[in-house]
Amino acid sequence: MTKYYGSSSRGLFSRRSAGAAALKGVSLAVGAGETLAVIGESGSGKSTLGRILLRLTPCTAGKVFFDGQDVLALSETDLRALRRRMNYIFQNPFGAVNRRHTIERVLASPLKAYGLYPDGARRERCEELLEMVHLSPALLDRFPHELSGGQLQRVVIARALATGPDFVVADEPTTGLDVITSAKLVELLKSLKAKLGLSLMFISHDLRTVAQIADRIVVMRKGEIVETGTCSDILANPQHPYTQKLIDSVPRLPESTRAVGSPAQVFATEERREEAGAAIDVAMSARGERTGEPTW
Ligand SMILES: Nc1ncnc2c1ncn2[C@@H]1O[C@H](COP(=O)(O)OP(=O)(O)O)[C@@H](O)[C@H]1O
Ligand SMILES: [Mg+2]
Repeated sequence: MTKYYGSSSRGLFSRRSAGAAALKGVSLAVGAGETLAVIGESGSGKSTLGRILLRLTPCTAGKVFFDGQDVLALSETDLRALRRRMNYIFQNPFGAVNRRHTIERVLASPLKAYGLYPDGARRERCEELLEMVHLSPALLDRFPHELSGGQLQRVVIARALATGPDFVVADEPTTGLDVITSAKLVELLKSLKAKLGLSLMFISHDLRTVAQIADRIVVMRKGEIVETGTCSDILANPQHPYTQKLIDSVPRLPESTRAVGSPAQVFATEERREEAGAAIDVAMSARGERTGEPTW
């Protein structure tokens, strides 16, 4: 895949997009049931890559295949059918939901779009989805701003899994969360992936997070893959100086995140803390880009 942003546009991004390619001939595969982590510093092209795979942004040149289907050549109808099987979890959950919709409506929207459950059975399915991510069904009648960033990100994860996808791209899903909540969110994703038999592309700039979940790692820099290998090989024996730099820059954890309990236990504690409201989430939603709701 090769990607130039808006080469002919005079729009908002025309100045910064003049010249450099966001992706330069990137080629990779994600195996069935595999977690492939894509790591690299900000601006290295990770989100562009993930978005192209799901046809959320056009590709300048290249091909994408999903289960034998030529994704970039699909008709809108076939693409819609495929989107049920592929989903994207955005970095900023506050930008990924409609603030005027209740959590029930947020979760029900893909179910409705694909006619997956009859009207009377949808609420129950939404309750199940919340329980799957260790959230209380009582949240169904709340609005996004009444939830913390960690809680809302779990709602977004539940929504991404609602249609029973085979492949999910999680784009820096722990941004803005504290170290423990972040570690537990990744642990949750890992267990859901195993339980549901998903293939996962996990995008991150943080090697510590990636080490928790990846089977294989692709290291990206300035739109190119500089190194790829199994998680243990890359961590133990990085070949590229850039990968070495990423490894050296990982801060040491003050305590083992495993010792603090299971995701469900930690989330329960988090929930109590969050009753008072978490300043970090406000900062995050103010900073984060609006990614918009997915189109089903
Ligand atoms: N919508 C856009 N328009 C123009 N340039 C963009 C756009 N989105 C990303 N870019 C540019 O493409 C490059 C890769 O960005 P991105 O894929 O977001 O990287 P990452 O996710 O690794 O931070 C960057 O140089 C970024 O500035
Ligand atoms: Mg990104």
